[in-house]
Amino acid sequence: MPTEQGLEQNSPHASGAGVGRRRALLTGGAVLAAGIGAATGELARGARTDVRASDDAPAAPIPFHGARQAGVTTPQQPATQVVSFDLPRTSAEADRRTLREVLAALTGSLAASASAAPPDARLQGGGTTRLTSLVGIGPALAARLRLDVPASLTALSAFPDDRLDPLRSDGDVLVQLCAADRWSLTVVAELVGAAARAAGATTRWTQSGFLPHTPPGSTPRNLFGSKDGTANPDRAAADRWVWGPPGAHRDGTVLVYRRIHMDVAGFAALPEGHRDRAMGRRMRDGSPLSGTAEHDEPDIYAKNPNGSYVVPATAHVRLASPRFDGGARMLRRSYSYDDGPDDRGLLFCAFMRDPRQFTRVQERLSARDALNPFLEHRASAVAYVLPGAPSAGVLGERLWT
Ligand code: HEM
Repeated sequence: MPTEQGLEQNSPHASGAGVGRRRALLTGGAVLAAGIGAATGELARGARTDVRASDDAPAAPIPFHGARQAGVTTPQQPATQVVSFDLPRTSAEADRRTLREVLAALTGSLAASASAAPPDARLQGGGTTRLTSLVGIGPALAARLRLDVPASLTALSAFPDDRLDPLRSDGDVLVQLCAADRWSLTVVAELVGAAARAAGATTRWTQSGFLPHTPPGSTPRNLFGSKDGTANPDRAAADRWVWGPPGAHRDGTVLVYRRIHMDVAGFAALPEGHRDRAMGRRMRDGSPLSGTAEHDEPDIYAKNPNGSYVVPATAHVRLASPRFDGGARMLRRSYSYDDGPDDRGLLFCAFMRDPRQFTRVQERLSARDALNPFLEHRASAVAYVLPGAPSAGVLGERLWT
């Protein structure tokens, strides 16, 4: 079964030519920071057709404009910054005007920052920023302003062991920035924040995250040490389960964000065999307990001679298996976070057509996931990731129809 990071990039209409090569290049939840990574990102989007990987080639910027926002399926860059904004609550008419202005300001600021010649001198360090972004609309704002968003966009229900901090959760407009380095993110977050505030928004919360340095084409590890992002949908599955249905929302998706605290030391203290069984995959190489290679699909029905499941009943990958959801898949593009020695964990970022899929999986996980003693969900947000902005256009043009 194909398991590469979602391949669908900015243009859903990209030619099929080179798909085989794209698949080969993007296998795994790839972290492609520079060089080869830069080239494969371009190739996958179909924006350039002859991009041979070369370590010393200057990294080209990732286009901001396109049918879909680049921050969803571009192979993961090493660093992220999530910024949540609120809008004033006056009248629906005035707030709709403010939202239009905020989206125009965000479009201008993000497009300029992602361009080959960003106007801010701090971003002129040689074209290696590799900035991508996504902008999403929270369900409360969508309902209040009666915006044209997918009907499935609703706030997530509460789960039994959630310990959510409202000051780090939710928001009217969510922006996720990803880039090759922390410096660019700090500068762009400042520029984007200033633009949004000048248009009437206020910053609600902000959160940074990172990935380990990982060879191109391989899956990054999380702070438990597991390869995280292996079983992501291929292009066809992403079209069915991640991007919107045909129609106005085809080029949009829904982001579910969870800030999950991890007891890293507690989990590390378990013997390796326990950790493998809790996950249902081997820490060493990410292979499922029912298989031998990382990209073997976990066989949740396989049994040991004594009748027990090879992938244990409480293993994370069993409970999260798409087999319990009619094959529905989400695209996970998570980052680790470190907010001091007592607060480290995962910024779980997953894209799906219908956030009820997250709810179904999380209900199973919260009931019996063997990882639960080591996890605490501390913040949460959901947002409709808008279709991309056409060149010279603005994000969110179809919200008002
Ligand atoms: C800190 C918390 C979490 C950790 C450390 C974690 C880690 C992992 C790891 C290591 C895998 C196996 C490798 C892979 O396919 O990527 C995995 C798979 C998966 N996880 Fe999580 N995860 C966490 C939270 C969640 C949550 C909250 C959900 C959704 C409610 C979720 C949904 C999934 C899904 C759908 C899969 C793929 C299952 C498959 O297709 O085989 N995970 N996770």
